Order: sequence, then C-alpha cells, then structure tokens
Amino acid sequence: MSLDALILTSLRAAGDGAVSGAQLSQELGVTRAAIWARIEDLRSLGYDIEASPHRGYRLLNAPDVLHADDLISRLGATQVIGRDIRVFQETTSTNDVIEKLARDGVKEGAVVFAESQTKGRGRLGRGWMSPAKRGLWFSVLLRPDLRPQEATRLTVASATALRRAIELQTGLKPEIKWPNDILIGGSKVAGILTELSAELDRVKYLILGIGVNVNLNPGDFPAELRKLATSLKAELGQPVSRPELAVAILRELDHDYARIDPGQFAALADEWEEHGATIGREVVIRTGDRQIRGRAESLGEDGELLLRTVHGHLERITGGDVALEK
Ligand code: BTN
Repeated sequence: MSLDALILTSLRAAGDGAVSGAQLSQELGVTRAAIWARIEDLRSLGYDIEASPHRGYRLLNAPDVLHADDLISRLGATQVIGRDIRVFQETTSTNDVIEKLARDGVKEGAVVFAESQTKGRGRLGRGWMSPAKRGLWFSVLLRPDLRPQEATRLTVASATALRRAIELQTGLKPEIKWPNDILIGGSKVAGILTELSAELDRVKYLILGIGVNVNLNPGDFPAELRKLATSLKAELGQPVSRPELAVAILRELDHDYARIDPGQFAALADEWEEHGATIGREVVIRTGDRQIRGRAESLGEDGELLLRTVHGHLERITGGDVALEK
C-alpha cells in the first residue's frame, strides 16, 4: 500500500477519534514532516482532515472522487479483485486500458476506473455514455480457469454481485435482465460488457466492463434513452457516494468470483433467478439476424438462458438481446 493509502486506513480505523502525527510516523516508519506533507496533499484533493496540535489528525469527510489510494484503503484485503487499482481521469474505454494490461501480463484482479470515457462501449456494438464523475465506469481483469463456453458463469456472477452491492449500498431492489442488465423499475441502471480472449479450449483472460449510472440527472440522458435508463440518484432522490459503492461492488465481485466453481454455481444461479426479471417471462431474443420467441425457463449449468420456444423446443441462448414481452 502507498503511504496515502496507509494514512487513510489509519484515520478510518480511528473512526471519530484522532490519530497523532507521532503515532502515524511510528506506525508507518516515516517522519512526522512526511506525514504532514501527505495530509496536505490529501486535503488538496478534497479530503477534509482536521489537524489539531493536541489530538492529531481526524478524517471528517472524503470527497466524491475516485482516488486509487482511497479505494485501496476502503477495500482492505480481498482474495483476487482489487489487488491493483488504477484510476484515470479520462480514457477511451476502460476495457481498452485493461486489455493492454492483460496483454502485458498484469495479474488477475486488476481494476481500472475512469472518471469519464470518450468511447465507452456497451453490448452488441452499442455506445455507453460515461459523463465525468457521474457514474462508475470500470473494468476488471480476470484469468479464470475455464473453457470459453463456461465463461457465461462469470456473466451470472458479475450480475449477482453488482445487484447485491447496489441493494446493500442504497436499499433499492434492482432486478437482473438476462444476461446482465441491472434494472430498477424496468429501467436500466447498470450494464456489464464481458470481453474474452481465448484459445479453443481455454480462456486466456476475461474483462468485465461495468458501467453504473450513479449520480446522473434525468437531463443527462439523451432523449432516446430517458425512458429506458435511470440512475441511482434519480431512483433514491439523493446522491450516492461513488467511492463507497465502488468498493461495495469490488467486494461482492470478489465474493462471487469464488462461486463460479461447479460445486457452488448452482447456488449462485438460484440467487440470479430469484432476482431475475427474465425467468418465467415471455421473451424475444435477437441474436444477429435471428429472432427467437419463447418462455425463459431457467439458467443452464454454465449460465446460459434456457428458452422454451413457441414450438416447444428447449434452446440454449448464450448471447443476444432480450426483450421482455409481458
Ligand atoms: C451494456 O449494458 O451494454 C454494457 C455496458 C458496459 C459499460 C462499461 S463502462 C466501463 C466499461 N468500459 C466500456 O467501454 N464499457 C464498460
């Protein structure tokens, strides 16, 4: 951990109490002057840190910015996800940045956030609007030991984790639309773009690109999206802390990444189905030029959608777009 992350961790551990410069300097093995310099720097980033000559330092408030050291200090220890966190002010797409890291051999669990994206992309070749400081736009690098056809399990894991984190942080009750759209009241609040690099029988790396509309106002959405999309702020009537939500999502992702093993996947799929807006519904699936109509019955053992077509056949759907009929 960097010195900033260690300082923020100590200040948070003290809760409402203060930590003296002497204590920090002793714990972290640097001079009190070095601690003071870092505190000043954190203050310039918007961290409200009280400094009292008698009591020491106290963290009063953290800004709604994404700062790698802060995210690392809030997250604490995880199994895999978030071991390496990087934040960019602006990128084309965080999936592009993480893909480059993947090709450079960076370990799985690395996460790249951007405050804004100039070429954010969604599923099926669509764009993804990513205005500065209004949402969470980030990508996670994974190197799962899976065959390509089993990778849909990660789609299921990431959707359950994202849904749960949103509920834990906001109290809202999001639903999942297959494969991994997160909806509130039927409008989309978050989406996941899974990109894969694979050999015939082995996934080399997998990128989860996650976009959450956190503090967008209805007017931030272009007119054509206003009926289809929403934000947590719009649903809750008040802004949501992006760093707190970011860390909650990483924690839940780390938890659910461990549940993609065959022995645990059934429970994960049950959780997905319990909060799904798709199972039991009449749907139309569009994949390429094909359109399949039927009833969504359940998730298959690798997270594919099992669809009973109007002709009575059971189809395994692994991609495409789902429209809910009734
Ligand atoms: C979808 O629902 O169509 C998926 C949207 C995924 C958007 C995120 S934002 C962070 C990451 N970078 C991108 O370019 N896309 C994903």
